[in-house]
Amino acid sequence: MVVPWVKALTGYVPGEQPQGEGWVKLNTNENPYPTSPKVLEAIQEKVSSLRLYPEPQSQKLRARISQKFGLKANNVIIGNGSDNILDMITRSFVGKGQAGHTVPSYSLYPVVVGLTGGSLFDIPFEASMELPVDAIVNADASVFFLTNPNAPTGVCFSLESIESVLKKIKGLLVVDEAYIDFGGQSASALLGKYDNLVVVQTFSKSRSLAGLRVGFALASEAIISILDRVRDAYNVDSLAQVGALAALEDEDTFLNNTQEIIKTRANSEASFQDLNWFTYPSSANFLFTQPKNNQGVSGPAVAQSLFEHLKSEKVLVRYFGAHPLTCSFIRVSVGTNHQMESFFGGIKSWQIKESQN
Ligand SMILES: Cc1ncc(COP(=O)(O)O)c(C=O)c1O
Repeated sequence: MVVPWVKALTGYVPGEQPQGEGWVKLNTNENPYPTSPKVLEAIQEKVSSLRLYPEPQSQKLRARISQKFGLKANNVIIGNGSDNILDMITRSFVGKGQAGHTVPSYSLYPVVVGLTGGSLFDIPFEASMELPVDAIVNADASVFFLTNPNAPTGVCFSLESIESVLKKIKGLLVVDEAYIDFGGQSASALLGKYDNLVVVQTFSKSRSLAGLRVGFALASEAIISILDRVRDAYNVDSLAQVGALAALEDEDTFLNNTQEIIKTRANSEASFQDLNWFTYPSSANFLFTQPKNNQGVSGPAVAQSLFEHLKSEKVLVRYFGAHPLTCSFIRVSVGTNHQMESFFGGIKSWQIKESQN
């Protein structure tokens, strides 16, 4: 018999991974630039020892990451992607209790909470997307998930507003910083001051390593030691451990790629402005924009029509139709300049098609 809360659960629906050639893939916020060659070399070297189990705790990686953030190795835990970290946090600190999150945000939170039989409290954003500090503080939740920069809007919250939450919140505040390397200030600067803070980051986006599955959490030694109890024994494979370590030794590739994405993001923002489409200011590697048709009208039908037209031209973006704050927008990952030309070309052909109907 399936346990009741799993029976009631809708699994996470990841963005489409289209098979076949010729797609301009701007739907899952992957980095458009290649992985560092140093990562590939390190993995190649490790391939010969796959006979052995990985080092279970990813100790070298913990030590290297702690050094980067000025922390101790026992303030760090590594996950099989940051999704694995979010799951460990929920299993350790939510269980059948209550967690909270702002809406809209990352759609995995309801899934990891549902898996333990817990419930998730929604705090809706206003259209301004300002951080609802009082509502978060007053939420009855043992864990509150805050995505910064937020997804799918790209809006970032100031360190001051995050600190004002930390000062008053009773449970844990998990700041999910999957996109922090593209803008905004990391809450890791507050770790020494607040022992109810967990900062989660990933190698997937800024380090072009979504396929390797490495994420990490930074927190007090007490929190990390609890997370270690629920961690799968070999949760990070040996190739992922050496690959992530090598990625941290190639700051040039990291900086060049993130800076290039930030530049392309600014140009794309300007193009949306030329179209007179409302677009949230983004600190992430994606843009959330409200398309208008040729009559200057926006809304769910318009956003969906553009999404489908782009898909018919093999340009894949993301459309979140289920929520009033997202249903008249599309989210486009920032690709290479060439990919963004295809995307804006797709918008032009949609406008032409619309004018012929
Ligand atoms: C806000 C947010 N957190 C976490 C993740 C998961 O990243 P990872 O690849 O490290 O599991 C994503 C992925 O899209 C995300 O958007």
